[in-house]
Amino acid sequence: MSAEAESEERIKAQEKYREMSIAEFFAKNKELAGFSNPTRAIYQTVRELVENSLDATDSHNVLPEVKISIKEVEPATDDKPAKYEVAVEDNGIGVPPNEIANAFGKVLYSSKYVIRQTRGMYGLGVKAAILYSQMTTGQPVFIVSSTDSSDNIYYKKLLIDIKKNEPVIIEEGQLLKRSNWHGTKVYLTLEGDWVRAKQKIIEYIKRTALIAPYAEIIFETPENEIYYFPRVTKKMPKPPSEAKPHPHGIDIEQLKAIVSFTKAKTMVEFMVEEFQSIGEITARKFLESIGIDPNMNPKVLIEKGNSKLLQTVATGLRTYKNFRPPRSDYLSPIGEELIEVGLKRLFNAEWVKAITRQARAYEGHPFIVEAGIAYGGNIVPAEEPVLLRYANKIPLLYEEREDVSYKVVSSINWKLYNIEEPMPLVVLVHVASTKVPYKGVGKESLSEVQELESEIKNAVQEIARNLRLYISKKNSERTLREKIVTISKYIPEVARSLSILSIPPDKWGSNGKKDNNERIIEKLVKIVSKSVELPKIDGKEEDPERIVRSVIANVKLEQ
Ligand SMILES: Nc1ncnc2c1ncn2[C@@H]1O[C@H](COP(=O)(O)OP(=O)(O)O)[C@@H](O)[C@H]1O
Ligand SMILES: [Mg+2]
Repeated sequence: MSAEAESEERIKAQEKYREMSIAEFFAKNKELAGFSNPTRAIYQTVRELVENSLDATDSHNVLPEVKISIKEVEPATDDKPAKYEVAVEDNGIGVPPNEIANAFGKVLYSSKYVIRQTRGMYGLGVKAAILYSQMTTGQPVFIVSSTDSSDNIYYKKLLIDIKKNEPVIIEEGQLLKRSNWHGTKVYLTLEGDWVRAKQKIIEYIKRTALIAPYAEIIFETPENEIYYFPRVTKKMPKPPSEAKPHPHGIDIEQLKAIVSFTKAKTMVEFMVEEFQSIGEITARKFLESIGIDPNMNPKVLIEKGNSKLLQTVATGLRTYKNFRPPRSDYLSPIGEELIEVGLKRLFNAEWVKAITRQARAYEGHPFIVEAGIAYGGNIVPAEEPVLLRYANKIPLLYEEREDVSYKVVSSINWKLYNIEEPMPLVVLVHVASTKVPYKGVGKESLSEVQELESEIKNAVQEIARNLRLYISKKNSERTLREKIVTISKYIPEVARSLSILSIPPDKWGSNGKKDNNERIIEKLVKIVSKSVELPKIDGKEEDPERIVRSVIANVKLEQ
Protein backbone atom coordinates (compact mmCIF):
# COMPACT_ATOMS: atom_id res chain seq x y z
CA MET A 1 0.00 0.00 0.00
CA SER A 2 1.33 3.44 -0.88
CA ALA A 3 1.83 6.01 1.87
CA GLU A 4 -1.05 8.01 0.45
CA ALA A 5 -3.45 5.08 0.40
CA GLU A 6 -2.46 4.20 3.92
CA SER A 7 -3.25 7.62 5.30
CA GLU A 8 -6.59 7.61 3.46
CA GLU A 9 -7.40 4.28 5.05
CA ARG A 10 -6.71 5.75 8.48
CA ILE A 11 -8.97 8.74 7.90
CA LYS A 12 -11.83 6.49 6.78
CA ALA A 13 -11.43 4.18 9.71
CA GLN A 14 -12.03 7.02 12.15
CA GLU A 15 -15.59 7.67 10.99
CA LYS A 16 -18.36 5.63 12.54
CA TYR A 17 -21.81 5.98 11.03
CA ARG A 18 -25.10 5.40 12.74
CA GLU A 19 -28.64 6.68 12.77
CA MET A 20 -30.05 8.82 15.58
CA SER A 21 -33.71 8.84 16.52
CA ILE A 22 -35.44 12.19 16.71
CA ALA A 23 -35.97 11.61 20.45
CA GLU A 24 -32.26 11.12 20.93
CA PHE A 25 -31.57 14.21 18.87
CA PHE A 26 -33.72 16.41 21.12
CA ALA A 27 -32.42 14.69 24.23
CA LYS A 28 -28.90 15.63 23.13
CA ASN A 29 -29.86 19.11 21.95
CA LYS A 30 -32.27 20.17 24.67
CA GLU A 31 -31.51 23.86 24.23
CA LEU A 32 -33.02 23.83 20.73
CA ALA A 33 -36.41 23.22 22.28
CA GLY A 34 -35.85 25.79 25.02
CA PHE A 35 -34.47 23.51 27.77
CA SER A 36 -31.01 25.06 28.08
CA ASN A 37 -30.71 25.20 31.88
CA PRO A 38 -32.76 24.44 35.03
CA THR A 39 -34.38 27.89 34.94
CA ARG A 40 -35.45 27.75 31.31
CA ALA A 41 -36.43 24.10 31.70
CA ILE A 42 -39.05 24.69 34.38
CA TYR A 43 -40.33 27.76 32.54
CA GLN A 44 -40.55 25.90 29.23
CA THR A 45 -42.29 22.94 30.89
CA VAL A 46 -45.04 25.18 32.26
CA ARG A 47 -45.31 26.85 28.89
CA GLU A 48 -45.65 23.68 26.85
CA LEU A 49 -48.27 22.22 29.18
CA VAL A 50 -50.30 25.43 29.36
CA GLU A 51 -50.20 25.85 25.60
CA ASN A 52 -51.49 22.34 25.07
CA SER A 53 -54.25 23.01 27.58
CA LEU A 54 -55.32 26.18 25.84
CA ASP A 55 -55.19 24.51 22.41
CA ALA A 56 -57.48 21.82 23.84
CA THR A 57 -59.97 24.40 25.10
CA ASP A 58 -60.33 27.74 23.32
CA SER A 59 -59.54 26.22 19.92
CA HIS A 60 -62.55 23.95 20.44
CA ASN A 61 -64.99 26.47 21.81
CA VAL A 62 -64.53 25.43 25.45
CA LEU A 63 -64.12 28.27 27.97
CA PRO A 64 -60.73 27.35 29.47
CA GLU A 65 -60.17 26.44 33.11
CA VAL A 66 -56.49 25.78 33.63
CA LYS A 67 -54.87 24.84 36.92
CA ILE A 68 -51.12 24.94 37.21
CA SER A 69 -49.22 23.79 40.24
CA ILE A 70 -45.53 23.51 41.02
CA LYS A 71 -44.38 21.64 44.13
CA GLU A 72 -40.89 21.08 45.41
CA VAL A 73 -40.35 17.34 45.86
CA GLU A 74 -36.65 17.39 46.72
CA PRO A 75 -34.62 20.38 47.88
CA ALA A 76 -31.48 21.52 46.11
CA THR A 77 -28.09 20.29 47.30
CA ASP A 78 -24.67 21.81 46.73
CA ASP A 79 -24.22 20.13 43.41
CA LYS A 80 -27.78 19.43 42.28
CA PRO A 81 -30.77 21.65 41.57
CA ALA A 82 -34.04 20.98 43.38
CA LYS A 83 -36.69 18.68 41.93
CA TYR A 84 -40.18 19.92 41.22
CA GLU A 85 -43.44 18.35 40.24
CA VAL A 86 -45.20 20.43 37.62
CA ALA A 87 -48.88 19.62 37.12
CA VAL A 88 -51.29 21.21 34.67
CA GLU A 89 -54.97 20.36 34.43
CA ASP A 90 -57.49 21.55 31.88
CA ASN A 91 -61.13 21.08 30.98
CA GLY A 92 -60.33 20.56 27.31
CA ILE A 93 -61.33 17.98 24.74
CA GLY A 94 -59.05 15.30 26.21
CA VAL A 95 -56.87 12.82 24.35
CA PRO A 96 -58.47 9.65 22.93
CA PRO A 97 -57.14 6.67 24.98
CA ASN A 98 -55.46 4.99 22.01
CA GLU A 99 -53.56 8.19 21.22
CA ILE A 100 -52.26 9.04 24.69
CA ALA A 101 -49.12 6.90 24.47
CA ASN A 102 -47.91 8.34 21.17
CA ALA A 103 -49.05 11.91 21.81
CA PHE A 104 -46.92 11.95 24.97
CA GLY A 105 -44.30 9.34 24.18
CA LYS A 106 -43.25 9.82 20.58
CA VAL A 107 -41.37 12.91 19.46
CA LEU A 108 -42.98 14.46 16.39
CA TYR A 109 -46.43 13.00 16.92
CA SER A 110 -49.24 15.52 16.91
CA SER A 111 -52.84 16.25 16.09
CA LYS A 112 -51.77 19.68 14.89
CA TYR A 113 -50.05 18.80 11.62
CA VAL A 114 -52.87 20.41 9.68
CA ILE A 115 -53.32 23.90 8.28
CA ARG A 116 -54.89 25.47 11.31
CA GLN A 117 -53.90 28.22 13.72
CA THR A 118 -52.74 26.46 16.88
CA ARG A 119 -50.20 27.23 19.56
CA GLY A 120 -48.53 23.88 19.02
CA MET A 121 -47.00 23.29 15.61
CA TYR A 122 -44.15 20.86 15.80
CA GLY A 123 -45.46 17.89 17.77
CA LEU A 124 -42.52 18.34 20.08
CA GLY A 125 -43.35 20.50 23.09
CA VAL A 126 -44.64 18.13 25.72
CA LYS A 127 -42.18 15.42 24.66
CA ALA A 128 -39.25 17.82 25.07
CA ALA A 129 -40.47 18.45 28.62
CA ILE A 130 -40.89 14.71 29.24
CA LEU A 131 -37.40 13.98 27.90
CA TYR A 132 -35.94 16.62 30.19
CA SER A 133 -37.85 15.26 33.17
CA GLN A 134 -36.77 11.72 32.39
CA MET A 135 -33.12 12.68 31.98
CA THR A 136 -32.93 14.72 35.16
CA THR A 137 -35.07 12.63 37.53
CA GLY A 138 -35.78 9.32 35.80
CA GLN A 139 -39.45 9.74 36.69
CA PRO A 140 -42.19 8.80 34.21
CA VAL A 141 -44.81 11.31 33.12
CA PHE A 142 -48.32 10.69 34.47
CA ILE A 143 -51.26 11.53 32.23
CA VAL A 144 -54.94 11.42 33.13
CA SER A 145 -57.41 12.19 30.38
CA SER A 146 -60.99 11.81 29.26
CA THR A 147 -62.82 12.95 26.17
CA ASP A 148 -66.30 14.37 26.35
CA SER A 149 -67.97 11.32 24.84
CA SER A 150 -66.06 8.76 26.92
CA ASP A 151 -67.53 6.92 29.92
CA ASN A 152 -64.07 6.40 31.37
CA ILE A 153 -61.10 8.30 32.62
CA TYR A 154 -57.84 6.83 31.35
CA TYR A 155 -54.45 7.15 32.97
CA LYS A 156 -50.96 6.22 31.86
CA LYS A 157 -47.50 6.47 33.32
CA LEU A 158 -44.87 6.38 30.63
CA LEU A 159 -41.26 6.99 29.70
CA ILE A 160 -39.83 7.63 26.25
CA ASP A 161 -37.50 5.01 24.78
CA ILE A 162 -34.97 7.51 23.55
CA LYS A 163 -33.19 5.17 21.12
CA LYS A 164 -36.41 4.03 19.45
CA ASN A 165 -38.48 7.19 19.91
CA GLU A 166 -41.33 5.18 21.33
CA PRO A 167 -43.44 5.27 24.48
CA VAL A 168 -42.75 2.73 27.21
CA ILE A 169 -45.84 2.24 29.33
CA ILE A 170 -45.01 1.79 33.02
CA GLU A 171 -48.57 1.64 34.28
CA GLU A 172 -52.02 2.21 32.81
CA GLY A 173 -55.64 1.83 33.66
CA GLN A 174 -59.10 3.28 33.52
CA LEU A 175 -61.81 4.38 35.90
CA LEU A 176 -65.51 4.75 35.36
CA LYS A 177 -66.43 8.41 35.03
CA ARG A 178 -68.83 9.54 37.75
CA SER A 179 -69.13 13.15 36.63
CA ASN A 180 -69.15 14.66 33.18
CA TRP A 181 -65.54 15.82 33.50
CA HIS A 182 -63.51 15.99 30.35
CA GLY A 183 -59.98 17.23 30.01
CA THR A 184 -56.40 16.32 30.71
CA LYS A 185 -54.02 16.38 33.67
CA VAL A 186 -50.30 15.98 33.20
CA TYR A 187 -47.76 15.50 36.00
CA LEU A 188 -44.03 15.81 35.38
CA THR A 189 -41.10 15.75 37.79
CA LEU A 190 -37.94 17.57 36.78
CA GLU A 191 -34.89 19.37 38.05
CA GLY A 192 -35.41 23.08 37.92
CA ASP A 193 -34.49 26.42 39.37
CA TRP A 194 -37.80 27.76 40.60
CA VAL A 195 -36.29 30.73 42.40
CA ARG A 196 -34.77 32.06 39.19
CA ALA A 197 -37.70 31.08 36.98
CA LYS A 198 -40.43 32.40 39.28
CA GLN A 199 -40.74 35.93 37.87
CA LYS A 200 -40.74 34.71 34.27
CA ILE A 201 -43.33 32.04 34.94
CA ILE A 202 -45.63 34.49 36.69
CA GLU A 203 -45.10 36.99 33.88
CA TYR A 204 -45.90 34.29 31.33
CA ILE A 205 -49.16 33.39 33.08
CA LYS A 206 -50.12 37.04 33.49
CA ARG A 207 -49.54 37.73 29.83
CA THR A 208 -51.49 34.63 28.90
CA ALA A 209 -54.38 35.87 31.02
CA LEU A 210 -54.09 39.31 29.45
CA ILE A 211 -55.09 38.07 26.02
CA ALA A 212 -57.33 35.28 27.25
CA PRO A 213 -59.63 37.16 29.64
CA TYR A 214 -62.19 34.44 28.90
CA ALA A 215 -59.98 31.88 30.67
CA GLU A 216 -59.87 31.05 34.34
CA ILE A 217 -56.30 30.38 35.38
CA ILE A 218 -55.11 29.28 38.79
CA PHE A 219 -51.46 28.95 39.62
CA GLU A 220 -50.14 27.50 42.85
CA THR A 221 -46.46 28.10 43.56
CA PRO A 222 -44.09 25.90 45.60
CA GLU A 223 -44.50 28.45 48.43
CA ASN A 224 -48.25 27.78 48.29
CA GLU A 225 -49.00 31.21 46.95
CA ILE A 226 -52.04 31.28 44.73
CA TYR A 227 -52.25 33.44 41.65
CA TYR A 228 -55.82 33.56 40.49
CA PHE A 229 -56.88 35.07 37.18
CA PRO A 230 -60.65 34.99 37.10
CA ARG A 231 -62.62 34.92 33.89
CA VAL A 232 -63.66 38.49 33.11
CA THR A 233 -65.64 37.80 29.96
CA LYS A 234 -67.33 34.85 28.35
CA LYS A 235 -66.68 36.26 24.93
CA MET A 236 -64.21 34.03 23.12
CA PRO A 237 -62.61 34.50 19.72
CA LYS A 238 -64.09 32.26 17.05
CA PRO A 239 -62.10 29.00 17.09
CA PRO A 240 -59.73 28.50 14.15
CA SER A 241 -60.78 26.01 11.53
CA GLU A 242 -58.78 23.80 9.26
CA ALA A 243 -57.91 24.89 5.75
CA LYS A 244 -56.70 23.39 2.52
CA PRO A 245 -53.26 24.54 1.38
CA HIS A 246 -52.87 27.66 -0.71
CA PRO A 247 -51.10 27.01 -4.04
CA HIS A 248 -48.48 29.71 -3.37
CA GLY A 249 -47.12 27.73 -0.44
CA ILE A 250 -46.62 24.45 -2.32
CA ASP A 251 -43.29 22.88 -3.22
CA ILE A 252 -42.55 19.80 -5.33
CA GLU A 253 -42.52 17.35 -2.44
CA GLN A 254 -45.82 18.63 -1.09
CA LEU A 255 -47.32 18.48 -4.55
CA LYS A 256 -46.23 14.83 -4.89
CA ALA A 257 -47.78 14.01 -1.54
CA ILE A 258 -51.09 15.67 -2.45
CA VAL A 259 -51.18 13.93 -5.83
CA SER A 260 -50.54 10.57 -4.23
CA PHE A 261 -53.56 10.73 -1.94
CA THR A 262 -56.00 12.72 -4.09
CA LYS A 263 -59.20 11.09 -5.29
CA ALA A 264 -59.59 13.62 -8.12
CA LYS A 265 -59.79 12.12 -11.59
CA THR A 266 -58.87 15.19 -13.62
CA MET A 267 -56.50 18.10 -13.16
CA VAL A 268 -59.41 20.57 -12.93
CA GLU A 269 -61.01 18.52 -10.18
CA PHE A 270 -57.63 18.20 -8.49
CA MET A 271 -57.13 21.98 -8.38
CA VAL A 272 -60.63 22.65 -7.06
CA GLU A 273 -60.62 19.82 -4.50
CA GLU A 274 -57.15 20.03 -3.04
CA PHE A 275 -56.43 23.75 -2.83
CA GLN A 276 -58.19 26.62 -1.19
CA SER A 277 -60.29 29.22 -3.00
CA ILE A 278 -59.90 27.82 -6.51
CA GLY A 279 -63.04 27.60 -8.61
CA GLU A 280 -63.37 25.76 -11.88
CA ILE A 281 -62.81 28.86 -14.01
CA THR A 282 -59.58 29.80 -12.25
CA ALA A 283 -58.45 26.17 -12.39
CA ARG A 284 -58.96 26.03 -16.16
CA LYS A 285 -57.25 29.37 -16.77
CA PHE A 286 -54.31 28.32 -14.64
CA LEU A 287 -53.90 24.94 -16.35
CA GLU A 288 -54.12 26.62 -19.73
CA SER A 289 -51.42 29.11 -18.72
CA ILE A 290 -48.98 26.30 -17.95
CA GLY A 291 -50.07 24.14 -20.89
CA ILE A 292 -51.58 21.25 -18.95
CA ASP A 293 -54.61 19.35 -20.23
CA PRO A 294 -57.47 20.01 -17.78
CA ASN A 295 -58.72 16.43 -18.24
CA MET A 296 -55.38 14.80 -17.51
CA ASN A 297 -55.34 12.41 -14.57
CA PRO A 298 -53.29 14.06 -11.80
CA LYS A 299 -51.56 10.74 -11.02
CA VAL A 300 -49.69 11.18 -14.31
CA LEU A 301 -47.62 13.81 -12.53
CA ILE A 302 -45.97 11.22 -10.31
CA GLU A 303 -45.40 8.63 -13.01
CA LYS A 304 -41.81 7.81 -13.83
CA GLY A 305 -40.20 10.11 -16.37
CA ASN A 306 -42.64 12.95 -15.74
CA SER A 307 -40.56 15.00 -13.33
CA LYS A 308 -40.44 17.94 -15.76
CA LEU A 309 -44.24 18.03 -15.84
CA LEU A 310 -44.35 17.88 -12.05
CA GLN A 311 -41.85 20.73 -11.88
CA THR A 312 -43.95 22.83 -14.28
CA VAL A 313 -47.07 22.41 -12.17
CA ALA A 314 -45.21 23.10 -8.91
CA THR A 315 -43.62 26.29 -10.24
CA GLY A 316 -46.95 27.36 -11.75
CA LEU A 317 -48.73 26.88 -8.43
CA ARG A 318 -46.20 29.02 -6.59
CA THR A 319 -46.06 31.84 -9.10
CA TYR A 320 -49.44 32.15 -10.86
CA LYS A 321 -50.69 35.65 -10.07
CA ASN A 322 -54.44 35.20 -10.41
CA PHE A 323 -55.20 32.87 -7.53
CA ARG A 324 -57.20 34.52 -4.78
CA PRO A 325 -55.04 35.43 -1.76
CA PRO A 326 -54.91 32.89 1.09
CA ARG A 327 -58.13 32.72 3.07
CA SER A 328 -57.95 34.25 6.47
CA ASP A 329 -61.46 33.53 7.70
CA TYR A 330 -60.20 30.45 9.49
CA LEU A 331 -57.60 32.40 11.44
CA SER A 332 -58.53 33.29 14.97
CA PRO A 333 -57.26 36.71 16.00
CA ILE A 334 -57.83 37.91 19.56
CA GLY A 335 -59.87 40.92 18.50
CA GLU A 336 -59.61 44.59 19.37
CA GLU A 337 -62.07 44.42 22.23
CA LEU A 338 -60.33 41.60 24.11
CA ILE A 339 -56.92 43.19 23.69
CA GLU A 340 -58.22 46.48 25.06
CA VAL A 341 -59.95 44.77 27.99
CA GLY A 342 -56.73 42.91 28.78
CA LEU A 343 -54.45 45.93 28.60
CA LYS A 344 -56.82 48.02 30.71
CA ARG A 345 -57.01 45.31 33.31
CA LEU A 346 -53.30 44.66 33.56
CA PHE A 347 -52.07 48.26 33.59
CA ASN A 348 -55.08 50.24 34.69
CA ALA A 349 -54.04 52.38 31.75
CA GLU A 350 -55.23 55.92 31.10
CA TRP A 351 -55.59 55.25 27.39
CA VAL A 352 -55.72 52.00 25.42
CA LYS A 353 -56.40 51.15 21.83
CA ALA A 354 -56.05 48.02 19.76
CA ILE A 355 -56.29 47.21 16.11
CA THR A 356 -56.78 44.00 14.16
CA ARG A 357 -55.38 44.43 10.67
CA GLN A 358 -56.67 42.85 7.49
CA ALA A 359 -55.17 39.46 6.68
CA ARG A 360 -52.07 39.28 4.51
CA ALA A 361 -49.97 36.37 3.32
CA TYR A 362 -46.37 35.32 3.03
CA GLU A 363 -45.38 32.30 0.94
CA GLY A 364 -48.97 31.15 0.80
CA HIS A 365 -49.50 31.36 4.57
CA PRO A 366 -52.16 33.79 5.72
CA PHE A 367 -51.45 35.90 8.78
CA ILE A 368 -53.10 38.65 10.74
CA VAL A 369 -51.24 41.24 12.78
CA GLU A 370 -52.88 42.79 15.79
CA ALA A 371 -51.43 45.52 17.92
CA GLY A 372 -52.40 47.38 21.05
CA ILE A 373 -51.00 50.36 22.89
CA ALA A 374 -51.55 51.26 26.52
CA TYR A 375 -50.52 54.63 27.89
CA GLY A 376 -50.30 56.02 31.42
CA GLY A 377 -51.96 54.53 34.47
CA ASN A 378 -49.77 52.03 36.30
CA ILE A 379 -47.23 51.73 33.52
CA VAL A 380 -43.79 52.56 34.86
CA PRO A 381 -42.24 55.22 32.58
CA ALA A 382 -39.08 54.01 30.86
CA GLU A 383 -36.71 54.96 28.07
CA GLU A 384 -38.40 52.63 25.64
CA PRO A 385 -41.87 51.12 25.51
CA VAL A 386 -42.55 47.79 27.19
CA LEU A 387 -43.06 45.33 24.34
CA LEU A 388 -45.51 42.46 24.78
CA ARG A 389 -45.07 39.93 21.98
CA TYR A 390 -47.52 37.18 21.12
CA ALA A 391 -47.68 34.58 18.37
CA ASN A 392 -50.81 32.46 17.97
CA LYS A 393 -51.81 33.70 21.43
CA ILE A 394 -48.57 32.52 23.04
CA PRO A 395 -46.70 35.17 25.04
CA LEU A 396 -43.06 35.29 23.96
CA LEU A 397 -40.71 36.31 26.76
CA TYR A 398 -37.22 35.36 25.65
CA GLU A 399 -35.06 36.49 22.70
CA GLU A 400 -36.84 39.83 22.53
CA ARG A 401 -34.09 41.57 20.65
CA GLU A 402 -34.05 38.96 17.92
CA ASP A 403 -37.74 39.40 17.17
CA VAL A 404 -39.10 41.25 14.16
CA SER A 405 -41.51 43.16 16.45
CA TYR A 406 -38.61 44.49 18.48
CA LYS A 407 -36.93 45.63 15.29
CA VAL A 408 -40.04 47.55 14.28
CA VAL A 409 -40.95 49.00 17.67
CA SER A 410 -37.41 50.06 18.55
CA SER A 411 -37.07 51.92 15.26
CA ILE A 412 -40.10 54.12 15.89
CA ASN A 413 -39.35 57.71 16.85
CA TRP A 414 -41.89 58.24 19.61
CA LYS A 415 -41.19 61.98 19.80
CA LEU A 416 -43.01 62.29 16.48
CA TYR A 417 -46.06 61.03 18.32
CA ASN A 418 -45.78 63.61 21.13
CA ILE A 419 -44.48 60.96 23.50
CA GLU A 420 -41.65 62.18 25.64
CA GLU A 421 -39.08 60.08 27.48
CA PRO A 422 -39.44 58.46 29.91
CA MET A 423 -42.65 57.08 28.45
CA PRO A 424 -45.40 55.21 30.26
CA LEU A 425 -46.02 53.09 27.18
CA VAL A 426 -46.84 49.44 26.47
CA VAL A 427 -46.92 48.10 22.92
CA LEU A 428 -48.52 44.72 22.27
CA VAL A 429 -48.02 42.84 19.01
CA HIS A 430 -49.85 39.63 18.13
CA VAL A 431 -49.21 37.58 15.02
CA ALA A 432 -51.80 34.93 14.17
CA SER A 433 -51.02 32.53 11.36
CA THR A 434 -51.38 28.96 10.20
CA LYS A 435 -47.60 29.01 10.04
CA VAL A 436 -45.79 31.33 12.41
CA PRO A 437 -42.23 31.99 11.15
CA TYR A 438 -40.45 31.18 14.42
CA LYS A 439 -36.69 31.36 14.44
CA GLY A 440 -36.41 28.10 16.39
CA VAL A 441 -38.46 25.18 17.72
CA GLY A 442 -38.33 26.76 21.18
CA LYS A 443 -40.81 29.30 19.71
CA GLU A 444 -39.44 32.48 21.24
CA SER A 445 -38.90 34.94 18.39
CA LEU A 446 -40.20 35.59 14.88
CA SER A 447 -38.12 35.93 11.73
CA GLU A 448 -37.88 39.12 9.76
CA VAL A 449 -40.35 38.14 7.07
CA GLN A 450 -40.76 41.30 5.06
CA GLU A 451 -44.57 41.13 4.77
CA LEU A 452 -44.81 40.61 8.50
CA GLU A 453 -42.49 43.47 9.28
CA SER A 454 -44.45 45.98 7.24
CA GLU A 455 -47.78 44.85 8.69
CA ILE A 456 -46.46 45.22 12.25
CA LYS A 457 -45.17 48.65 11.39
CA ASN A 458 -48.48 49.76 9.91
CA ALA A 459 -50.42 48.43 12.87
CA VAL A 460 -48.27 50.08 15.52
CA GLN A 461 -48.05 53.37 13.66
CA GLU A 462 -51.78 53.53 13.15
CA ILE A 463 -52.45 53.28 16.88
CA ALA A 464 -49.58 55.62 17.65
CA ARG A 465 -51.28 58.25 15.48
CA ASN A 466 -54.42 57.86 17.57
CA LEU A 467 -52.35 58.24 20.70
CA ARG A 468 -50.73 61.38 19.32
CA LEU A 469 -54.17 62.87 18.78
CA TYR A 470 -55.17 61.96 22.32
CA ILE A 471 -52.02 63.46 23.80
CA SER A 472 -52.24 66.68 21.81
CA LYS A 473 -55.90 67.12 22.76
CA LYS A 474 -54.99 66.47 26.34
CA ASN A 475 -52.22 69.05 26.19
CA SER A 476 -54.42 71.69 24.61
CA GLU A 477 -57.16 70.91 27.08
CA ARG A 478 -54.71 71.42 29.91
CA THR A 479 -53.62 74.81 28.56
CA LEU A 480 -57.21 75.96 28.12
CA ARG A 481 -58.16 74.67 31.52
CA GLU A 482 -55.32 76.67 33.08
CA LYS A 483 -56.55 79.77 31.28
CA ILE A 484 -60.10 79.27 32.49
CA VAL A 485 -58.84 78.86 36.03
CA THR A 486 -56.71 82.01 35.86
CA ILE A 487 -59.54 84.16 34.51
CA SER A 488 -62.20 82.70 36.74
CA LYS A 489 -60.25 83.62 39.85
CA TYR A 490 -60.96 87.29 39.09
CA ILE A 491 -64.71 86.91 38.70
CA PRO A 492 -65.71 87.43 42.36
CA GLU A 493 -63.46 90.49 42.70
CA VAL A 494 -64.64 92.01 39.41
CA ALA A 495 -68.26 91.26 40.24
CA ARG A 496 -67.94 93.00 43.58
CA SER A 497 -66.51 96.13 41.95
CA LEU A 498 -69.11 96.11 39.21
CA SER A 499 -71.98 95.66 41.59
CA ILE A 500 -70.79 98.71 43.49
CA LEU A 501 -70.43 100.77 40.33
CA SER A 502 -73.60 99.65 38.59
CA ILE A 503 -76.15 100.99 41.11
CA PRO A 504 -76.26 104.42 42.72
CA PRO A 505 -75.08 104.65 46.35
CA ASP A 506 -78.53 105.56 47.71
CA LYS A 507 -79.86 102.19 46.44
CA TRP A 508 -77.19 100.31 48.38
CA GLY A 509 -79.57 98.38 50.56
CA SER A 510 -77.76 95.35 51.92
CA ASN A 511 -79.91 92.96 49.89
CA GLY A 512 -79.92 95.05 46.77
CA LYS A 513 -76.13 95.00 46.55
CA LYS A 514 -75.93 91.26 47.23
CA ASP A 515 -78.59 90.43 44.61
CA ASN A 516 -76.83 92.61 42.13
CA ASN A 517 -73.49 90.97 42.90
CA GLU A 518 -74.92 87.50 42.31
CA ARG A 519 -76.52 88.55 39.06
CA ILE A 520 -73.19 89.91 37.81
CA ILE A 521 -71.33 86.77 38.89
CA GLU A 522 -73.85 84.65 36.94
CA LYS A 523 -73.35 86.83 33.86
CA LEU A 524 -69.56 86.63 34.11
CA VAL A 525 -69.68 82.86 34.60
CA LYS A 526 -71.69 82.55 31.38
CA ILE A 527 -69.41 84.91 29.48
CA VAL A 528 -66.24 83.09 30.51
CA SER A 529 -67.64 79.58 29.99
CA LYS A 530 -69.07 80.42 26.57
CA SER A 531 -65.76 81.89 25.42
CA VAL A 532 -63.95 78.54 25.45
CA GLU A 533 -64.65 75.10 24.17
CA LEU A 534 -62.71 72.16 25.56
CA PRO A 535 -61.72 69.45 23.07
CA LYS A 536 -63.55 66.14 23.07
CA ILE A 537 -61.35 63.38 24.47
CA ASP A 538 -62.51 59.82 23.79
CA GLY A 539 -65.94 61.21 22.96
CA LYS A 540 -66.27 63.06 26.26
CA GLU A 541 -65.93 66.76 26.80
CA GLU A 542 -65.73 68.66 30.03
CA ASP A 543 -68.19 71.52 30.63
CA PRO A 544 -66.15 74.74 31.13
CA GLU A 545 -68.91 76.15 33.33
CA ARG A 546 -68.28 73.42 35.88
CA ILE A 547 -64.62 74.42 36.07
CA VAL A 548 -65.46 78.14 36.40
CA ARG A 549 -67.93 77.48 39.20
CA SER A 550 -65.59 75.24 41.11
CA VAL A 551 -62.86 77.91 40.94
CA ILE A 552 -65.23 80.64 42.15
CA ALA A 553 -66.43 78.46 45.00
CA ASN A 554 -62.87 78.36 46.30
CA VAL A 555 -62.07 82.08 46.02
CA LYS A 556 -62.20 83.95 49.33
CA LEU A 557 -62.55 87.73 49.04
CA GLU A 558 -61.15 90.00 51.68
CA GLN A 559 -63.82 92.14 53.29
N1 LIG B 1 -53.82 18.99 27.44
C1 LIG B 1 -54.06 18.36 26.29
N2 LIG B 1 -55.32 18.18 25.86
C2 LIG B 1 -55.58 17.55 24.70
N3 LIG B 1 -54.62 17.06 23.87
C3 LIG B 1 -53.34 17.20 24.25
C4 LIG B 1 -52.99 17.85 25.47
N4 LIG B 1 -51.64 17.84 25.57
C5 LIG B 1 -51.17 17.21 24.46
N5 LIG B 1 -52.18 16.82 23.66
C6 LIG B 1 -52.07 16.11 22.38
O1 LIG B 1 -50.74 15.70 22.25
C7 LIG B 1 -50.19 16.15 21.01
C8 LIG B 1 -48.72 16.42 21.17
O2 LIG B 1 -48.44 17.55 21.97
P1 LIG B 1 -47.07 18.32 21.82
O3 LIG B 1 -45.97 17.35 21.92
O4 LIG B 1 -47.04 19.44 22.81
O5 LIG B 1 -47.06 18.86 20.34
P2 LIG B 1 -48.00 19.94 19.61
O6 LIG B 1 -48.68 20.73 20.69
O7 LIG B 1 -47.05 20.78 18.82
O8 LIG B 1 -48.93 19.17 18.76
C9 LIG B 1 -51.00 17.38 20.67
O9 LIG B 1 -51.00 17.59 19.28
C10 LIG B 1 -52.38 17.00 21.20
O10 LIG B 1 -53.08 16.25 20.26
MG1 LIG C 1 -47.71 21.48 22.36
